[in-house]
Amino acid sequence: MASHHGALAPGSPGLPGGPGGSAGPGAAEGVLHLPDGVRSPGLHVRGLRVQFSTRSEAGDAVLRSAVDGMDLDVAAGELVAILGANGCGKSTTLKSVIGLAPVTSGEVWVDGEQVLPHHRTSAAEQHEARRRVAMIFQQVNLVRRRTVLDNVCAGALGRLPLRRSLVASLFPHDLRAEAMLCLDRVGLADRALDRVGQLSGGQQQRVAVARALCQRASVLLADEPTSALDPAASTQVMELLATLAHDEGLAVVAVLHDPELAREHADRLVGMVAGRERLNGAPDAVTRDAVEHLYSAETATVTVTRTTVGTRISA
Ligand SMILES: Nc1ncnc2c1ncn2[C@@H]1O[C@H](COP(=O)(O)OP(=O)(O)O)[C@@H](O)[C@H]1O
Ligand SMILES: [Mg+2]
Repeated sequence: MASHHGALAPGSPGLPGGPGGSAGPGAAEGVLHLPDGVRSPGLHVRGLRVQFSTRSEAGDAVLRSAVDGMDLDVAAGELVAILGANGCGKSTTLKSVIGLAPVTSGEVWVDGEQVLPHHRTSAAEQHEARRRVAMIFQQVNLVRRRTVLDNVCAGALGRLPLRRSLVASLFPHDLRAEAMLCLDRVGLADRALDRVGQLSGGQQQRVAVARALCQRASVLLADEPTSALDPAASTQVMELLATLAHDEGLAVVAVLHDPELAREHADRLVGMVAGRERLNGAPDAVTRDAVEHLYSAETATVTVTRTTVGTRISA
């Protein structure tokens, strides 16, 4: 199986979790993974578990699982949408990949390098693997009073010597040139010198994508990137994410609140219930009923029990 490493085309049916790799609703138990699947390009999550300490109704300290045995495969060249009711663990799954959630157990692999658990890899390997992952959020976190170009350059901070990155005006010329190329890829090169605050929400989200590109990320995580946008801007952002996956070979995963938007743009839908995968398949292999069931009262009951007792909602 090792011969498969690097040999599979993006989106190839042979890739774990690729378009041919899973069988639609209810496939959670039956999904087959290649033994070396985690070593193929893209993002691979195995048995992820995240627990937060909280208080039971009786006031005792208890651990609650926000993510409870989640598997996720996003091949290079693929756009995967994650769907599921509020509190089912979508944001926490994405945050785990970039080290923003307290992972209890499980494995995370990025482009064949293991990111979690920590002790399996050297600090340098981890730094490099983390650099390959960028995340964008619903609330675009750019510096509004800085220029578009400076914000995009900031994507490179993780790979610049500190002294060159402290002052924006010291961003080296070659980095500015690269940032301009990234802005061109999201269709905003002409806005480079505007302040971010002057742009519309949809344009700001595209600047956030350009910043991720300037980070030279190969895995892009997007947590409800369109929730604050109108339908036209949402479509534009989703088309951009699809282009980055299909034409540039990034592995892209987007948590989406709108199942129809997911159907329209994603190569594969992954549905979560109570911290794990419940549904996994290409849009035309997943029925609307199956998607609706993710949000149904029966499913939501589990979620409400978990969330009302929880102390904080971080997303
Ligand atoms: N920092 C935190 N502290 C305690 N509980 C949390 C924290 N972050 C998330 N949770 C809980 O974990 C569960 C999953 O949250 P989240 O991943 O944000 O859900 P989703 O993005 O699917 O709406 C929820 O019950 C939430 O309350
Ligand atoms: Mg969320």
